[in-house]
Parts: sequence; C-alpha cells; structure tokens
Amino acid sequence: MTQLRLSSWTWLFLLGCWGWAEATRGTDENIAGASTQRPNHHKVLILGGGVAGVIAARTLHSQGIEDFVIVDARHELGGRMMTKSFGGKVIEQGPNWIQGTQEGDGPANPIFELANKYGLKSQFNDWFGSVSTYDATGFVDFLGTFDSSGDGFTNITILAGARVDSSLVDISVRTGYSLVDAKSANPHARASEYYHGPLQFDWEYAQTPEQSSLIAASLGNNFTYNTDQGGFSDANLMSLDQRGFKSLIQLEAAEFLKPQQTMLNATVKTISYSKNGVTVILKGGNKLTADYALCTFSLGVLQNDDVTFTPALPGFKQEAIQSMVMATYTKIFLRFPQKFWFDTEMAIYADSERGRYPVWQSLDHPNFFPGSGIVFVTVTGDYSVRIEALPDSQVQQEVMGVVRSMFPNVTVPEPTEFFFPRWHSNPLFRGSYSNWPPSFSSQHLDNLRANVGRLYFAGEATSRKYFGFLHGAYFEGLGIAKLIAECVKGGICTDMEHFPRITNARPYENE
Ligand SMILES: Cc1cc2nc3c(=O)[nH]c(=O)nc-3n(C[C@H](O)[C@H](O)[C@H](O)COP(=O)(O)OP(=O)(O)OC[C@H]3O[C@@H](n4cnc5c(N)ncnc54)[C@H](O)[C@@H]3O)c2cc1C
Ligand SMILES: *[C@@H]1O[C@H](CO)[C@@H](O)[C@H](O)[C@H]1NC(C)=O
Ligand SMILES: *[C@@H]1O[C@H](CO)[C@@H](O)[C@H](O)[C@H]1NC(C)=O
Ligand SMILES: *[C@@H]1O[C@H](CO)[C@@H](O)[C@H](O)[C@H]1NC(C)=O
Ligand SMILES: *[C@@H]1O[C@H](CO)[C@@H](O)[C@H](O)[C@H]1NC(C)=O
Repeated sequence: MTQLRLSSWTWLFLLGCWGWAEATRGTDENIAGASTQRPNHHKVLILGGGVAGVIAARTLHSQGIEDFVIVDARHELGGRMMTKSFGGKVIEQGPNWIQGTQEGDGPANPIFELANKYGLKSQFNDWFGSVSTYDATGFVDFLGTFDSSGDGFTNITILAGARVDSSLVDISVRTGYSLVDAKSANPHARASEYYHGPLQFDWEYAQTPEQSSLIAASLGNNFTYNTDQGGFSDANLMSLDQRGFKSLIQLEAAEFLKPQQTMLNATVKTISYSKNGVTVILKGGNKLTADYALCTFSLGVLQNDDVTFTPALPGFKQEAIQSMVMATYTKIFLRFPQKFWFDTEMAIYADSERGRYPVWQSLDHPNFFPGSGIVFVTVTGDYSVRIEALPDSQVQQEVMGVVRSMFPNVTVPEPTEFFFPRWHSNPLFRGSYSNWPPSFSSQHLDNLRANVGRLYFAGEATSRKYFGFLHGAYFEGLGIAKLIAECVKGGICTDMEHFPRITNARPYENE
C-alpha cells in the first residue's frame, strides 16, 4: 500500500477541518496548538535506545532527518549492554562477546568495527581449548568426551542445509542430533552437549536442543561464524573494557545525537498507531506524537503486555510475537578473597541434572582480570527462570554446594560478593535474547518484522540471520530506519510483506 505523501501538518489541518474521527483520535492536542508549533510532535519516534535504536537514529541522521527523538525508560543508552561494578571491576551483566569478528578482508561484524573505532579493550576467549572438567566428585578428566561432543557439528549443519534445499519441515535440534547419531548418554556427555555439543548448544542459544529449531540454529550459526556461508569468523572477542562494552554504542551516539534527540527516564505505557501517525503515552501521562515510530522494545516486552497497543495488534502480529521465544541467559558472579580454582579460562561441571550450574569462567586469569578473585557460572533457559524466583541467599547456597563438590580438597570460604541479574523478571527486557523454536516459520519472522500502519519494529529478535546477537540488533536498526527514511522523505513507502494466515505445508487430515 502506498501512503499519501502529504506532510502530517497538511494532514492535521485537513482532518481537523473535516473532522474525521479516525484522524483526530489522539491528535487533538496537536490540533489545538496547531496554529504556532507542535510541541512533542516529531517526524520519527525511536522507542528504545539499545543498539537497534541508536543505529536507527544514526541512519536517520545520515539521511538528513533530524526531527526524531529516542525514548528510553533507562537513564542511559545501550539497552541490554549493561554493566555492574563488582569486586572493584566493571563487569558485564548482558552481552560480553563480539561473536564472529572478521577474516582477512571478508565481511566484518559491525560491532567489531565499532570496537576498533573506539579502541575497546578486548581479549580472545578460548572457549574450547582452555577447559577443565569436573563433576560432583571433583576434578575428573572427561575432555575426550567434551572434544568429541563437537564432532557431529558439521553433520548437523549439513542435515539442516539439506532440509532447507528440499523444503522439508523444520525439526528440533534434538531430533537433528538423534538423526546424526549424536546422543548424549551420561552427565559428562550432557554437560559437554550443553556447552559444546554439535552446534554449541544451550550456552549459546539459552534454551535446550528440544526447544530449538534445527534450521534456524544451523543457519544462525553459519551466518555468524562460517566464512564459507557469509559469516564473519569463528572467533569470540570478550570485552574487558572498564568503560563497559556499552561504551561503543554510547560513543557512537555521542558523535551525532543532540541533547534534544534523547528522552531518558521515560517509560512508554501506550502506543496508538494508524495509517496516519503514532501517539505514545508515557508513564506520568505525557503524550508524544509522530508521523512514524520505530519500536525496538525486546520481544519479551512485546509478549508481556508491558506496553498497550491501540488498536490491539492484528492477529498475524500477535501470533508472531507469541511464537518466537524470549530465552534467558544468566551469569552468576562470585568473588573470593583469592583464587583457588582451575587455571584454564573455562570449566564445565557435569551435574546429574542437565543444566545445573554447568559452565564456569575464570576472570582471575592472566588474560582477563588477574588477582580479581572473580569467577562466574552461567545458567540458561528454564533454569534461569527457576533461580530468578529464589532469594539470592538460596541461589548462593546452591552454587556454593556445587563449588564445594568441584573442589572437595579445598576449604572454600563464602564469597565476599555475590550477584546475578534477573533478566527474565526485568520489565524492560523480560529475558535476555530471542531463540527460534521449531514451530516458528520463516513467514512468522516476516510478520514479526512487519509494520502496522506507521508503526515499525526492529531489534535482535526481528533479524532472520542474526537473531539473538548484537549485530542482529545493529542490522535491523539500520535496515528498518532506511525504510522509514524513504517514507519520511516521500520516496517509496510500502507496507512490509506480511502473511495474514500461515498454513501447514499440507492441511492436517483428521480421520
Ligand atoms: C545476558 C545476556 C548476554 C548476551 N550476550 C551476548 C553476546 O555475548 N554477544 C552478542 O552479540 N549478544 C549478546 N546478547 C544479546 C544482545 O545483548 C542483544 O541482541 C542486543 O543488545 C539487543 O539490542 P536491541 O536494541 O534489540 O534491544 P535492547 O537493548 O533491549 O533495547 C531496547 C530498549 O528499550 C527500552 N525499553 C523497554 N521497554 C520500554 C518501555 N516500556 N519504555 C521505554 N523504554 C523501554 C529498554 O530500556 C532498552 O534500552 C546478550 C544479551 C544478554 C541479556
Ligand atoms: C534519570 O534518573 C536518574 C535517577 O534515577 C538521574 O540520576 C538522571 O539524572 C536522570 N536523567 C535524565 C536525563 O533525566
Ligand atoms: C558425520 O558424518 C560423517 C560422514 O559424512 C561420518 O563419518 C561421521 O561418523 C559423522 N559423525 C557423527 C558424529 O555423526
Ligand atoms: C552450513 O554450512 C555448511 C558448511 O559450509 C553447509 O554444508 C550447510 O548446508 C549449511 N547449513 C545451512 C542450514 O545453511
Ligand atoms: C583429594 O584428596 C584425596 C585424599 O587425599 C585424594 O585421593 C584426591 O585425589 C584429592 N582430590 C583432588 C581433586 O585433588
């Protein structure tokens, strides 16, 4: 559908005269004040100032559009790129790695480019070559099992590629593992699978192989890490910068944003949209209007009715929002008076229960923060949701039980500091990043991305190739802002493709 390219001013004037109910809804304040200026009216509202929002703003700026405002509930830009001061260091609660960098003069991860531009202090993290192995009896060398757990890796991406080429339906990663005969029969194998297993599983996707799409996980892996498939590189660069990983997006914003182009500490409660414009109501009642708006709130926020849409989002959009999954990845930080643990960068702990405090990482290591006394353990998915519901003291007790079983011959003291973020409960995020389940189709993704009237959507979750990643949020902010810029500048303005109904490959026959 091509939208009319009258300025919204003309619109308000015409509609005001003709008294169309549709148009006056939510815009009467502006019409009342229309004779002089329109306070709180902008060409574009960017809702959310994370990576997608900041890059969208930069894109509008570079297209000569300056009449926009970034609105965010937090006191600073960066969104999920969030730091915490812990044990005398600045640590990362959210993203920590540039995943895939660049090989030769091949395609570069744009986050890697920003890191280079701002001299981010970072360090390659040897995920698979610097690992110690433990179970409930203490140190046990099962590196053989660990190393071979990655063996089916290529087989599983090939299986997925063949299914794409033959238009076969998606299946779960678990089904894929079983079909390439990568079965994990004991705790050592299950912990290895969690971390490293064909496709490096829960520790990357924040959900189990059962909960995840074989096709999307394989494509996602290829597009980021596999240079034969357009990926950046297989390296993981860990931010150690004491300005915080967020500094790269904040410094980028500082290059072009004017003070009047950000509105912080401003929580959006309601978004009204139509073919003519968007009205946003903030907590406290202030109203903002715009010709266009870009919503970059996380998938979790959209799923949890933290923001009310008027009219209610159409069925195709709601199905897409509720079908993608907002997964959770939780880093639990401990600080001790001194290091008593492994000298490798990483360790795995194989509990009899899969996913129970499985992946450990030493920050008190020559490559990271030597002498810091900091170590952290990661849990994901349903286990993250479980611990978020417990008091810190109980989680600390569980974690310390594991530490003491890993080091039976050490008198382990209580940690001097203990912290973990509750991403799933946080109303501004409702999880850490999205994961693609087997029941989510490619058309669902189109529907998740599609605009409704003059309201557009972008963020890591709308990225088909890079969902879950910082670079996914970057590319979506860039791409969708380009579409909006074309509309604003009166060029081509068409609705993004969407599918009112998504049907099965074949109707189900009920006999
Ligand atoms: C624990 C964790 C680990 C991760 N690890 C990595 C990693 O190592 N590498 C990697 O590439 N990616 C990682 N990610 C993913 C990465 O952080 C995200 O893909 C990316 O930051 C998403 O950016 P975004 O702009 O789409 O969304 P966000 O950063 O969520 O931005 C949306 C903004 O909207 C604001 N907002 C929400 N609701 C409202 C409201 N009602 N009113 C006003 N403002 C609101 C929020 O405050 C936020 O600033 C990790 C994420 C987490 C949480
Ligand atoms: C936002 O609120 C914090 C306190 O919660 C305050 O320190 C900060 O100055 C505020 N920022 C703006 C831009 O209003
Ligand atoms: C992967 O496939 C190769 C043949 O292509 C086979 O030899 C190998 O055993 C398979 N590995 C796993 C773990 O399935
Ligand atoms: C991923 O890359 C491998 C190796 O290049 C390729 O064989 C496979 O088909 C790709 N998988 C998908 C799902 O594209
Ligand atoms: C712990 O001490 C016992 C008894 O001295 C010894 O047999 C065992 O190997 C030690 N374990 C570790 C992990 O050092």
